[in-house]
Amino acid sequence: MVCLPAAYLVLACVASALAAPASPSVSSAEPEATLPYASDDPNAPLWNEDTTSTPEAIRGSLGATVIGPQNVPIDQQNPDILAPPSTDAGTIGQAKWPMGLSHNRLQTGGWARQQNEAVLPMATEMAGVNMRLDVGAIRELHWHKTDEWAYILKGSVQVSAVNPDGQNYLATVSAGDLWYFPAGIPHSLQATADDPDGCEFLLVFDDGAFSEDATFLLTDWLAHVPKEVIAKNFQTDISAFDHIPAEELYIFPSAPPPDDAQAPSSPYGTVPQPYTFKMSQVNATQLAGGTVKVVDSTTFPVSVNTAVAEVTVEPGAMRELHWHPTQDEWDYFIGGTARITLFGSTGNARTFDYQGGDVGYIPASYGHYVENTGNTTLHFLEIFKTDRYQDISLSQWLALTPPALVKAHLNISDELIASLSKTKPIVVGPR
Ligand SMILES: *[C@@H]1O[C@H](CO)[C@@H](O)[C@H](O)[C@H]1NC(C)=O
Ligand SMILES: *[C@@H]1O[C@H](CO)[C@@H](O)[C@H](O)[C@H]1NC(C)=O
Ligand SMILES: *[C@@H]1O[C@H](CO)[C@@H](O)[C@H](O)[C@H]1NC(C)=O
Repeated sequence: MVCLPAAYLVLACVASALAAPASPSVSSAEPEATLPYASDDPNAPLWNEDTTSTPEAIRGSLGATVIGPQNVPIDQQNPDILAPPSTDAGTIGQAKWPMGLSHNRLQTGGWARQQNEAVLPMATEMAGVNMRLDVGAIRELHWHKTDEWAYILKGSVQVSAVNPDGQNYLATVSAGDLWYFPAGIPHSLQATADDPDGCEFLLVFDDGAFSEDATFLLTDWLAHVPKEVIAKNFQTDISAFDHIPAEELYIFPSAPPPDDAQAPSSPYGTVPQPYTFKMSQVNATQLAGGTVKVVDSTTFPVSVNTAVAEVTVEPGAMRELHWHPTQDEWDYFIGGTARITLFGSTGNARTFDYQGGDVGYIPASYGHYVENTGNTTLHFLEIFKTDRYQDISLSQWLALTPPALVKAHLNISDELIASLSKTKPIVVGPR
């Protein structure tokens, strides 16, 4: 029976199920079913972002209308929370955090907001920051105890850094590109004039407890060192430091860097492994229902604690059922709408809906899929705290397992088992 994943087909699908009941087994050698069969309910998304009617807490014969107060825009964005699929059961921690609900730190020249364990307790392995800089604005010279991985959402950014061996680095990267600074490496970020709006980017840190408000800043440090010590350190007069800020600058306006900006020449040369990677210039792999690009330390050697899969999924298509063996997944949605069901073993499963600007989180080994529930291309990033991207595809696992073993579990047809893909589909097409 073919059941398309669209709400308006539910009735047709149920009707065809009634018209064509499964024929009884004819073989006496056939083992008896020991458990009832899973429900035929397709549990399709009930509405999407284009909905104009008021969402109701009703799925099939379950639920009832909302007659008290209702935050309609939130319900429109979260159909699988208001009216969960009947396959959801038990408890899974909160797995969605919209950056739009994060407190925003406004500065002259930009802003920054963050997601960490304080707002999404399940996200213990990674934290994220969304930052915006006007043309020329600087995120000041600083360092921190975690590694920093970045993806540029818009515009371009000049980054600078110096490593413990006195080797330095300066580069400019643009939308779709990455940078990576290992823990403790001092660096700066500055929006270039390439885009009249400056830039916006996403930062991911390899510690869920990271706070962007707790980094080590050049100005904060010097504002908290006796001036006598500062003068002695640089072998000059105290008066040379009459105009250093009394508190941290953090984000502040400045003139944009020249196009041909260069780092001062270091007697030790430049860093052996670049701190940036032009992922925008990597061709995505075309798949039946979308595209994927993976960048980890095999292609971006300095990125030893972060790997990314940049995925697009066409309307009706889906990132296939899979899991990541040992790595938690931190997701950032760039555009489109999606739903994900997190399967956490022992019958626990919960479905969450996402749109551009949302953070998602999936613990290691949790089975999941990412379905495009909208009418536009879904574009998102899967980010992992690892040196190597890894996943297990359900289709490939079953295709490479003895067919009789698969049949004994799922009682699916020999034809279907023979058709399972021995290569990972990654993003399956609409059907
Ligand atoms: C497998 O499915 C067939 C129908 O295709 C049914 O007759 C049979 O009882 C099922 N076996 C088990 C063990 O569920
Ligand atoms: C990327 O794709 C373009 C257009 O299809 C092609 O010209 C180019 O050679 C590809 N680059 C690489 C590195 O494969
Ligand atoms: C979006 O797609 C759904 C089917 O998935 C369709 O019913 C709806 O009309 C579409 N909306 C728009 C605005 O195209």
